[in-house]
Amino acid sequence: MCGIVGYIGNKQAVEVLTDGLAKLEYRGYDSAGVAILNDNDIEVRKFKGRLSVLSQDLERNNIHGNVGIGHTRWATHGEPSDINSHPHWNQSCSIAIVHNGIIENYMDIKEDLLQKGYKFTSDTDTEVVCHLLNEYYEGDLVGAVKKTVSKLEGAYALSVMSRDNPDELVAVRMTSPLIIGIGEEENFIASDIPAILKYTKNVYILNDGEMALVKKDGIELMTVNGTPISKEVFTVDWDVEAAEKGGYDHFMIKEIHEQPKAIKETLSPRLKKDKTIKLDDINLTKENIENFNKVYIVACGTAYHAGLLGKVLIEKFVKIPVIVDIASEFRYGNPFIDDKTLIIVVSQSGETIDTFEALRLGKRKGARIMAVTNVVGSSIAREAHDVLYTWAGPEIAVASTKAYTTQMASLALIALDMAVKTDAISQPEYNKAIEEIEQLSSKVAEILEDLDLVKDLALDIYQAEDVFFIGRGVDYDVAREGSLKLKEISYIHSEAIQAGELKHGTLALIEKDTPVIALATQDRLYDKMLSNIKEVKARRAYVIAIAKKGNKEIEKSADKVIYIPDVMDELSPILSVIPLQLLSYYVAKERDCDIDKPRNLAKSVTVE
Ligand code: F6R
Repeated sequence: MCGIVGYIGNKQAVEVLTDGLAKLEYRGYDSAGVAILNDNDIEVRKFKGRLSVLSQDLERNNIHGNVGIGHTRWATHGEPSDINSHPHWNQSCSIAIVHNGIIENYMDIKEDLLQKGYKFTSDTDTEVVCHLLNEYYEGDLVGAVKKTVSKLEGAYALSVMSRDNPDELVAVRMTSPLIIGIGEEENFIASDIPAILKYTKNVYILNDGEMALVKKDGIELMTVNGTPISKEVFTVDWDVEAAEKGGYDHFMIKEIHEQPKAIKETLSPRLKKDKTIKLDDINLTKENIENFNKVYIVACGTAYHAGLLGKVLIEKFVKIPVIVDIASEFRYGNPFIDDKTLIIVVSQSGETIDTFEALRLGKRKGARIMAVTNVVGSSIAREAHDVLYTWAGPEIAVASTKAYTTQMASLALIALDMAVKTDAISQPEYNKAIEEIEQLSSKVAEILEDLDLVKDLALDIYQAEDVFFIGRGVDYDVAREGSLKLKEISYIHSEAIQAGELKHGTLALIEKDTPVIALATQDRLYDKMLSNIKEVKARRAYVIAIAKKGNKEIEKSADKVIYIPDVMDELSPILSVIPLQLLSYYVAKERDCDIDKPRNLAKSVTVE
């Protein structure tokens, strides 16, 4: 999704902005641009395509200036093009802006502005903001921004500069994230921490309806109505190295290999020596839990797939019914929410707009909201009643890997904590689950030790046009994640099917050599699954099975078998997804795909 960087200080703004935009590339974008205050004029350079196109132009043109704003755009209104790229400006080019989000009432505003004689050059919703600023500007930039945003509806983060206020940048946030970086004799604006981490670890996180007047030697914080506010400085506790590739070819493979550490760091601080669980920021009491008559788990994409395991674990251990819903469906459906409802929102970024709005809907209707997120200080973390952080570290690749496994590990802790508090679990069952949880990190490391087989299998299937993933129970949930991973980074069409459903339709698509990835890790369902493998084998499919170590029998039915260490059925997804992540990675590599930044996708989905 779009990225914003702003700079005011003594350095060359071009350097800080392009460096910051490069750190935001992982979020996905289709064009990039900057506006620099250069000898009392605003110079705008912006291009469709990769950041390198912009950087080459900036080098050629040698643009100087110590104040500027930059943007990477992910098209929503208007195709990717030079003209639709940001920054946008008013007709006299005295004011320039960059914008993340969507101005929902832009058509109405545009009509008014057209009648007043304003001319539009782009197809974007953003351009109305420039002309509104022009309309309201009377020498006071903050005043013009206040009046402008009072007319806007939707989600936005804006950074504004003015030729006639050369010592000021203005930042304003409504739903789309925005932070202010605090430096010495310099300050920054960014939509995401990595953009400015090289320069400062101290930031203010703007809330909805808040603005900042950012100068070289000071920052004034206020509401959009102009009421001054004070805020605590948030100090980022990870460093630039954590957000770099560290010798790996791609962030995705680095992050796959980071999973043993990420899982350990998520679990260890919460598991005490006496085997009890202490979940730092979750304050649910026995009475609170007993008051719930249902749990919703709401999320998008991979985080939703983690939620599917949360359902299995909560229903098994806590014995409360759980509904897992896709956030964009939940928001516009008719969910049964009241004060007896617990809603668990799961989000790596903590900024996914649909998940965030689902949280807000739940809160309005009186539900208790718990968040599982990876980003401290994110919108979701700040608005939830209770938060459990996944300590996965920054996840840069668009395809989520370590966030997924740590989300599942966190949901296991939440389920067990709730079960213990309400005496819903027996001591032996609890002890067994904790023992299994404690071994997860080393078992994941064991799978990652030998990559040869998975690399060979990638060679077998990388030219396929369709790949099918089948499984039963939690194996089906993992099949869905495996299928999503493969399609998003390798662009091969894939589908996940409940193995028992095959013969109700999808079996028609299975023919000679069709790759079928069959997850067969569930002891309880193993015989049924074996029959399904035989069904596709009878249609001459090429079957790669995922099974628990020691299961030699499956080799008679599948073409190839990837083994995972023995594990409790309900926790197997945390292991069985690892070969699927690796398979997707190596298939995409073989196909020469842009693995970390797959086409059309973005890391943090801050528009609906
Ligand atoms: C897929 C992927 C996405 C995200 C989804 C939710 O690999 O990464 O499906 O899981 O966009 O994002 P978060 O977790 O940030 O809310």
